[in-house]
Amino acid sequence: MEISGTFIEGGGEHHRYIRVDEPTADDIYAAVKDFWTGRENQTTEKIKEVVLSYRKSNYHDSMEPVRNKLRDIHADCDPERPFSMIDFGGANGSVFYVLKDILPDEAFRYLLIDPYTPFIEDFRKSFADQQAIEADAEQFIELDDAAFEDRPYRLFFSAHVMYLIKPSIVRRIIERAAGLTDDIVLVDNVKNLHGELDKENPVIFDYYPEGGQIYFSHNFEGYFDDVGFEILDMTLTPPRKAEMKLGYGVFHARRR
Ligand SMILES: C[S@@+](CC[C@H](N)C(=O)[O-])C[C@H]1O[C@@H](n2cnc3c(N)ncnc32)[C@H](O)[C@@H]1O
Repeated sequence: MEISGTFIEGGGEHHRYIRVDEPTADDIYAAVKDFWTGRENQTTEKIKEVVLSYRKSNYHDSMEPVRNKLRDIHADCDPERPFSMIDFGGANGSVFYVLKDILPDEAFRYLLIDPYTPFIEDFRKSFADQQAIEADAEQFIELDDAAFEDRPYRLFFSAHVMYLIKPSIVRRIIERAAGLTDDIVLVDNVKNLHGELDKENPVIFDYYPEGGQIYFSHNFEGYFDDVGFEILDMTLTPPRKAEMKLGYGVFHARRR
């Protein structure tokens, strides 16, 4: 895809960060969303392989700071109330596999939101006692409170999802999440976390342009500020491979 925009920084072996206008952000988002929710060119075997791989993906070393963060928040919960979390874009419950292992908690309430049917079906097969909603970002924003049985949730969590979504929609996801919880933990690209690259315009980076993977780097601090949340901490996550997912971290925001 040809991208027109203003180069900000990066390049060489790593990502180039580029400021783009809203129509360009719309086109990129449409292409990325189609990749994740359509997968029309993939065989049944390939889809099965992808689904099974997500049952194990969160055991990877790069997720250790994320596991630690979730363990700490769980330890800090009100013993009188069951721990509850929303996992937005949670694949087939990839993080829930790990949490079941590391947290002995029978009362745990987990709500998966994901737009990809094979993920939702696999999750329902594995965890029939938990809740799943098949919805993409735009559908999640429109869900009314009745869909969220355990609100207010102790936590809204989302890992490796927001950089797939354009800024105007991520702002609205955070606004909707803020109506359901006081604590939000995201795992995402952090190069523009405080608006370092741009506070107003969409910023993209060419993660793997040959494979059509061009992603967004968000000014999360600005989005949180708009809904009365502040970032409490951020820990960088190690890259999965030497050149992959540099500039990523786990961060925790809370209502002021
Ligand atoms: C890189 S995977 C991360 C999965 C999981 N959170 C994890 O860390 O293991 C991205 C996930 O986001 C979901 N996703 C992609 N585009 C989305 C969109 N526009 N709205 C909501 N979810 C989306 C995909 O279905 C997929 O499960």
